[in-house]
Amino acid sequence: MSIKRIGILGAGRAGTALARAAASARIDVRIAGSRPPRMMKYHLAQYASHATAVLAEDIAEDADLVVLMVPQEELDDIDVPSLAGILLVDATNRWEDEPLPDWLETSLDAGLSSSEGIATHFKSSRVVKALNHISHWDMDADRATKQSAQRALGVASDNKQDAQTVSELTVALGFSPVLLPNLAAGRGLEPGGAIFNEVLDAATLSARLGPSAQ
Ligand SMILES: NC(=O)c1ccc[n+]([C@@H]2O[C@H](COP(=O)([O-])OP(=O)(O)OC[C@H]3O[C@@H](n4cnc5c(N)ncnc54)[C@H](OP(=O)(O)O)[C@@H]3O)[C@@H](O)[C@H]2O)c1
Repeated sequence: MSIKRIGILGAGRAGTALARAAASARIDVRIAGSRPPRMMKYHLAQYASHATAVLAEDIAEDADLVVLMVPQEELDDIDVPSLAGILLVDATNRWEDEPLPDWLETSLDAGLSSSEGIATHFKSSRVVKALNHISHWDMDADRATKQSAQRALGVASDNKQDAQTVSELTVALGFSPVLLPNLAAGRGLEPGGAIFNEVLDAATLSARLGPSAQ
């Protein structure tokens, strides 16, 4: 596998579950919250003991990709230039009536998917939508459970190579990737859609997403 190290922005329920799953797959993990690394010592000892805490603005250093797992209402606090050039996996969702940054509201009002809106803001990054429609409980399930369920996860990207890289990560984490043809198709992975938080195999997930799934 080509993925050796990932960065995770957000060290809450989702970020630490991904960190544990990635560590089980022997992937090196760097993780950042809004707090400085020295203030995350006990939190990480409990929830993601194999991950290394770094400053948020250093998360992309030497990483093969960065996964965005902070609440959407906090996105204005993320340093955009520090993510320039990186493959940025948008795993965020809007939660109920969570307030959004103005630029994201504007994008949604214009009919874009949430990841297209995020790609508009993080314009110097290569945004892929993935890892958002699975709960932290299921992300952290043991490998045998995942394999017996053959759970599928969608990957939406405008770039085939980036989609392939995120698919590799998905497999390493114990899931079956289903590639979607473009970032716009990531709308099907959002809350309220046909597959959100559902445990589905690849054929069923593809069928539910319809023609946008390959
Ligand atoms: N929970 C799930 O099952 C799940 C699954 C898939 C996707 N998601 C999505 O992932 C996102 C996070 O959800 P969550 O449930 O993990 O939330 P959470 O438990 O509230 O954790 C949020 C994390 O974001 C960090 N954060 C906030 N502002 C930040 C900033 N400017 N820079 C770096 N880190 C920052 C917080 O750090 P501090 O604590 O240091 O402030 C905290 O570690 C949401 O968009 C959610 O929809 C969640």
